Amino acid sequence: MDDVTERARALYDKYRFGDIRLGAEKVRSRREDRHLLKFLAMIPAGAHLCDIGCGAGYWMDVYHEYGVHKENITALDLSSGNVDALRQRGYSAFCGNAMDLPFADDIADCAICQGVLHHTQAPERAFEELVRITRSGGLMYISVYNQWHPYFYVVHKATFPFRYLYWNWNKTLPTIALYPFFSAAIQSITYLTKGSFMDRKSCMALFMDQVMTPRAHLFSRSRIRKYAERHGCEVLEFGYTRWFDMLSAIIQVGKA
Ligand SMILES: C[S@@+](CC[C@H](N)C(=O)[O-])C[C@H]1O[C@@H](n2cnc3c(N)ncnc32)[C@H](O)[C@@H]1O
Repeated sequence: MDDVTERARALYDKYRFGDIRLGAEKVRSRREDRHLLKFLAMIPAGAHLCDIGCGAGYWMDVYHEYGVHKENITALDLSSGNVDALRQRGYSAFCGNAMDLPFADDIADCAICQGVLHHTQAPERAFEELVRITRSGGLMYISVYNQWHPYFYVVHKATFPFRYLYWNWNKTLPTIALYPFFSAAIQSITYLTKGSFMDRKSCMALFMDQVMTPRAHLFSRSRIRKYAERHGCEVLEFGYTRWFDMLSAIIQVGKA
């Protein structure tokens, strides 16, 4: 396994990504992911859905609300903690790498890969794997960091020295130096937009996911379109999250 993937596994094992909470309430809200909901509404009854990079399984309840039953979901994540927790909830979950999926060709009617491709060492390789496991005519939904959003330049690109020290020298000191600034900024934004602060565990998980993550590629529409063209797919529609930080695409898989 390459360095980036090894590091991502260690990071997401320790800081599992799923619910981001304001006390007992979830900050991540279904209403803010309208594009994903639109995609779920397009899925035919009885379809087999693969969630690649499923994290702690935040979206499972939403899939059920849209008529996708537990037995029709296959989930995969790099972190064994996430996979074990999902198995305990009765899901068919697998530990694996998005760039080398342990699934046969064409097993999925639709594949979802939310917030994952940008963290992989080779996103196009992961995209190709999503296409391989999705049947011809099936649908894919991907969401990635939007390269035109200034947030990711500030939180990811500009923090490179801290991340370098974190992975190559010492994990504690760069975290102590940077986290208070991240926390103050994110908590202020959360308070202004949601009327309450995020819990500390969620804030740290977000910090690790967005700042200390070993890799965060940024994406434009044209990059996604190129991936689609090169792998025989068609982008049906692009979308954004409420604050335009994430770019998403609904893609139809076409295989010769
Ligand atoms: C930001 S979280 C998103 C989780 C979930 N999709 C969600 O929306 O709540 C990113 C997830 O991608 C997983 N991940 C990162 N690199 C991966 C890879 N190469 N293969 C599989 N999963 C990966 C991490 O373990 C983590 O759970």
